[in-house]
Amino acid sequence: MKKVLVSVAWPYANGDLHIGHLAGAYLPADIYARYHRLAGNDVLMVSGSDSHGTPITVRADNEGLTPREVFERYHRNFLDTQQQIGISYNLFTHTDTPNHHRVSQDIFLALLDHGYLYKEAQQQFYSDTLGRFLPDRYVEGTCPYCNYPEARGDQCDNCGKLLDALELKDPRCKIDGSIPVVRETEHFFLDLPKLEPEVLAYLEDGKEDWRPNVIKFSRNYVAGGLKGRPITRDITWGIPVPLEGYESKRLYVWFEAVIGYLSASVEWAGLAGTPEAWKAWWYDPEALAVYFIGKDNIPFHTVIWPAELIGVDRLYEDDPDRHLNLPYDVPANEFMNLSGSQFSKSRGHMISLPDVLSRYDADAIRYYVTVIMPETSDSDFYWDDFVQRNNGELVGVWGNLSHRVLSFTYKHFKQVPEPGPLADVDRALLAQTEAAFERVGQLLSARQFRTALIEALALAREANRYLEVKSPWSELKQDKQAAGTSLYVALQAINALKVLLAPFLPFSAETLHQALGYEQPLLGTQVIEEVTDNDYTHSVLRYDDSQASGTWAFETLPAGRALQKPKPLFKKLDDSVIEEELARIGK
Ligand code: MF3
Ligand code: ZN
Repeated sequence: MKKVLVSVAWPYANGDLHIGHLAGAYLPADIYARYHRLAGNDVLMVSGSDSHGTPITVRADNEGLTPREVFERYHRNFLDTQQQIGISYNLFTHTDTPNHHRVSQDIFLALLDHGYLYKEAQQQFYSDTLGRFLPDRYVEGTCPYCNYPEARGDQCDNCGKLLDALELKDPRCKIDGSIPVVRETEHFFLDLPKLEPEVLAYLEDGKEDWRPNVIKFSRNYVAGGLKGRPITRDITWGIPVPLEGYESKRLYVWFEAVIGYLSASVEWAGLAGTPEAWKAWWYDPEALAVYFIGKDNIPFHTVIWPAELIGVDRLYEDDPDRHLNLPYDVPANEFMNLSGSQFSKSRGHMISLPDVLSRYDADAIRYYVTVIMPETSDSDFYWDDFVQRNNGELVGVWGNLSHRVLSFTYKHFKQVPEPGPLADVDRALLAQTEAAFERVGQLLSARQFRTALIEALALAREANRYLEVKSPWSELKQDKQAAGTSLYVALQAINALKVLLAPFLPFSAETLHQALGYEQPLLGTQVIEEVTDNDYTHSVLRYDDSQASGTWAFETLPAGRALQKPKPLFKKLDDSVIEEELARIGK
């Protein structure tokens, strides 16, 4: 039994979750976590709402709300959405808990203590009218590269160049339009040049099975030579710097958000009543830590976070043999676009998850997003493709297989039929079924989710071919026992497919499990719960699998087992859906 830490990117709590989040990080993470749990491994899957930083304060300013109101609203909304789409976090919390503040401050102090932080003065825009420093996103002006008049202080949306606000021509404050002045301010910097040799050694060691783009990008990022990175900011929303004289500064959001993986593990252990339990995932060198993120977050997870971990070395431990585990893999996905162009919230060219979940079943969405998952290059969500694959593959191949066999067996036998002697064709399907666990399992553990799903579906196609050959519907008329044998064999394949597909399609797998007459649930359930930790009450999403009974293995469905009346697992979609959805995105 292995310990597997499944770390999932923390969404900024400033807007609805969308298909890009699902395809980039949450769905692959969930499939991986569900597979490992079925395979008998000890999974800890954590994430939460990223509550701090200018993405939240800009949104709050625009809406006349406090940053806290913004993050609390979206945090609540993230819990509902991810419960509905079935993301099985052991804990989905947020970064404004006292626990996360404490762990982040402890890490800051440990880095300071180990000599990995230094102070340096920086030039920064300041507003005399507002009496405050202006973070990059709060300054606009003319792009020094392309002369676009509305470039943001961190990036020009016209030419795409990353900017430093001080480079802007004719800078103005985004809040009141006034002209900012330049002032000097002092910040803490993470001493990346000092940590560089160890980060480089980490990136050179092993990594053969990392995705080529991820490892190449990361090595290049370091090869250019790392510069110190400021890890404090002049803002008031965020985690206080735990030193006197820094009351007007906060920890930089990217410095502390990645610490969430560790602090959420600590919080999970406390809530479970076993406060030391997180250590098994963080100190045992045999434990796997896999980070699921989108490609825009790569350097933070393959360079900055490892540097923080190396610099901290160990947390709350005196044992010199203990080191915090570095990421075992960071299987970053590429982007999922919509109908050939990038998502854009402002143009309404996007698919928000709360919105699609109001019209389609979670498993239908999960199916399509997995078959077009952008694992090795960007991919596109097309509504006509969604409808075709739903109808042709999910309903046509798998849904029909299980529904035809179950409803026919239920009608004529009411239970799993007693088989007669098996012929070669019967044994062949059973052998293929058994072999699928090994093959699909290997693909899943290698984080090749698309191929794994295609392989599992290939078994469903085999079972459909088997039924064409055997045709129990006509056998029944002459020889009920022969029909019973065919249905028995087909039911074994269906029962196995239920497990093979469960990481991808957990809701329909559970429905089918019940129809097959099981009493214990196959999987756990996502619960939204109010919890109190360090005297602080907040809502979290948590996976309760105390009753789950599924295992990743071929298991015989016993003859004589009573079946339940089956319901269709999936819905066929009308072609009119395509037009409707295109109209929604203004096409
Ligand atoms: N909030 C960031 C984003 O949405 C991701 C943060 S991942 C973390 O891009 F690890 F830093 F939390
Ligand atoms: Zn520009």
